[in-house]
Amino acid sequence: MSDPIVAVEHLTLAYPGDRGRPAVSVLTDVSLNMARGGALTLVGPSGSGKSTLLRCLNRLEEPTAGTVRFDGRDVRSLDPRELRRRAALVMQTPVLFEGTVRDNLWLRPAGTPGDFSEARLSEVLIEVGLEPLFLDRDAATLSGGEKQRVTIARALLRDPQALLLDEPTSALDPPNAALVVETISRAREARRLSIVAVTHQPELVRHLGGSLLFLVRGRVEAYERLDGGASAIGDARLQAFLAGESPRAVPAKP
Ligand SMILES: Nc1ncnc2c1ncn2[C@@H]1O[C@H](COP(=O)(O)OP(=O)(O)O)[C@@H](O)[C@H]1O
Ligand SMILES: [Mg+2]
Repeated sequence: MSDPIVAVEHLTLAYPGDRGRPAVSVLTDVSLNMARGGALTLVGPSGSGKSTLLRCLNRLEEPTAGTVRFDGRDVRSLDPRELRRRAALVMQTPVLFEGTVRDNLWLRPAGTPGDFSEARLSEVLIEVGLEPLFLDRDAATLSGGEKQRVTIARALLRDPQALLLDEPTSALDPPNAALVVETISRAREARRLSIVAVTHQPELVRHLGGSLLFLVRGRVEAYERLDGGASAIGDARLQAFLAGESPRAVPAKP
């Protein structure tokens, strides 16, 4: 692939073992590529290393070996704060601070570039489907879906190139999950955002398209493109996932 936004080569990550025990391998020889404006979904049983892999992309975790390139640069050569602005992580449980929605959108390290005017704050709220009146709402009083849309607005305000989504809808009830899926799809189209998502929701994958990567115990067991739709997927576990079955319920390859 020429000029990918994210390129991972032979990434391995192990945690040192407790008191002389052998190291614990979390990711082993993972390679992947994502085109600009593309999408990639990470699927796999709980504990397979999906979150760890996602966090390696913006240096919230450091691999033991291998390289991660973002926008053509080895992430180790980028300022971590700048990298995390350009590749913004949205987590399963929205993290909002005490104060109003405005306070939460405003909060940023000194020197963060960007337009944080009232007009821009309103614009970005509308972009995630919330009325500008929400700026004055106490963040603690929002529903889970509204909170998640505020965290997405906070990322969008900083003009990211990519969103890293770690089960962004898992903590939400179905109507709120649907609203967040819609918000992500719309922002992606409007801004040509690249998206890497960990999700158990086939609905989100169908909206995103792109590629599906199946991780089992830190290894890539399947990696396929969704271009031709779900029927073009060869791996039985990915087919089952797209049909709405939980990856935990799918037997491993013999
Ligand atoms: N700091 C850590 N030290 C040791 N093991 C860890 C640490 N963080 C995560 N792990 C282990 O790494 C594995 C993958 O975790 P994670 O990436 O959260 O998986 P997933 O998101 O697929 O559920 C798990 O077995 C987890 O226990
Ligand atoms: Mg996880």
